[in-house]
Amino acid sequence: MADLNFDADKRAAAIAAVAEVRADMLVGLGTGTTAAFAIRALGERVAAGLAIRAVATSQNSAALARECGIAVIDFADVAHVDLTIDGADAIDPHCRAIKGAGGAMLREKVVATASRRMIVIADGSKQVQTLGTARVPVEVLPFARSSVLAVLGESATLRMGTDGLYRTDSGNLIADCRFDLSDLEATARWLESIPGVLGHGLFLDEVDAAYIATAGVVTRLER
Ligand code: 5RP
Repeated sequence: MADLNFDADKRAAAIAAVAEVRADMLVGLGTGTTAAFAIRALGERVAAGLAIRAVATSQNSAALARECGIAVIDFADVAHVDLTIDGADAIDPHCRAIKGAGGAMLREKVVATASRRMIVIADGSKQVQTLGTARVPVEVLPFARSSVLAVLGESATLRMGTDGLYRTDSGNLIADCRFDLSDLEATARWLESIPGVLGHGLFLDEVDAAYIATAGVVTRLER
């Protein structure tokens, strides 16, 4: 039967990326179902004797990492990360990605930017020729909810959680938007210019490499 969750490919991409981890590294742990495969694979290497420490991009990933025996330290005490491994919702041939379906893109971007190397792991369903049609999540300061939504325009929809408005680990809101993405850099700059926008899911410069698995075959892209 077909694996509609692409779990085997997520795991294959995750294992390929985790093979880049070396002793004594500080590793950034991403968020989402694909990143969870990397956390488990890293936990197996730690159980086999690999000495590393990690920072997590979400409370869920920190909890999973600790369950897997990985030493997680507070990112607030960290200036630089050696290697970060994270998922993505879409990635193009130039390693430009859209992230944030899992709601962690602000912390993910902070950790990615502090990282000497940032690897995206994904199954082949995430691979796109252009990012032009994807939904872009925008993290919004709750105080600025209405003013930011007015600027983002009609496509912006506040994400809902199980109990009202979705809140990120930092207590912020997410507006899911559809923009004209024919000029990605201009859209990113515009979003960053809006007071009350704290982050967005366009990762245009942060990703150094990607491991993408399709039907069990892992392909590596380097920027
Ligand atoms: C979370 C993210 C995730 O990495 C992205 O949504 C991919 O998730 P998944 O691996 O579950 O498809 O950006 O903010």
